[in-house]
Amino acid sequence: MSSAYWCVIPAAGSGARFGGDMPKQYVEVAGRSILLHTLDALLSHPRVKGAMVALSNDDAYWPAALTRLHGKPVLTCAGGVSRAASVSNALAALPVEVGQGDIVLVHDAARPNLAHGDLDALFDALAAHPQGAILAAPVRDTLKRANDEGDIAATEPREKLWRAFTPQAFPRGLLAKALGDAATAGAQVTDEAMAMERIGIRARLVEGREDNFKITTPADLARFEFMVARR
Ligand code: C5P
Repeated sequence: MSSAYWCVIPAAGSGARFGGDMPKQYVEVAGRSILLHTLDALLSHPRVKGAMVALSNDDAYWPAALTRLHGKPVLTCAGGVSRAASVSNALAALPVEVGQGDIVLVHDAARPNLAHGDLDALFDALAAHPQGAILAAPVRDTLKRANDEGDIAATEPREKLWRAFTPQAFPRGLLAKALGDAATAGAQVTDEAMAMERIGIRARLVEGREDNFKITTPADLARFEFMVARR
């Protein structure tokens, strides 16, 4: 049996801005917003069922006509004050057909260069690790710790260190609980796996492609433009 999964996309941040007042996920590359590239990367996969996108209340850019993509539902809900709060809202807003034990994928709005092969690897890992799995890549550069002056204080061992990417895949109910617990404790969680770690769940690290990067800087945007032009 091969399951199909719903995705949650937190897209309610104003974040770093490119080109005026527009949130970065709405910057266009090859005639489509970064967010639409991201949705396309997910929903074009046969094992992705639908997407719930968390939007800011004052979002003036979301295309209201976009309710289906690749014949699959694209739903929206209100985001929250943090990424974690936006993900919590989106989990709560998923259709009732998504069971509390069903795996949900959380994926960054501004991580558009996701390959089907990476999704396949994640889905394969979930079969053996139903408590959760995330895409990630090992740290390859030498790591330096800085002192207060910006000089090198130490070299940190990089073995066993990974960079966490998305999608991050967890059971709907458990992830909602983990995010709720973190919020109650006032803990700032920067990804879903961190919330799960707090409640003792050890997600599987699945090595993914280095080019599944988050667009954060203008150089990242230029890199994505280059990748799309080369397709
Ligand atoms: O700022 P950063 O790049 O870490 O944001 C990660 C993701 O979380 C972005 O897709 C952003 O839109 C989303 N976010 C959100 N709600 C917030 C803050 C960020 O959905 N309140």
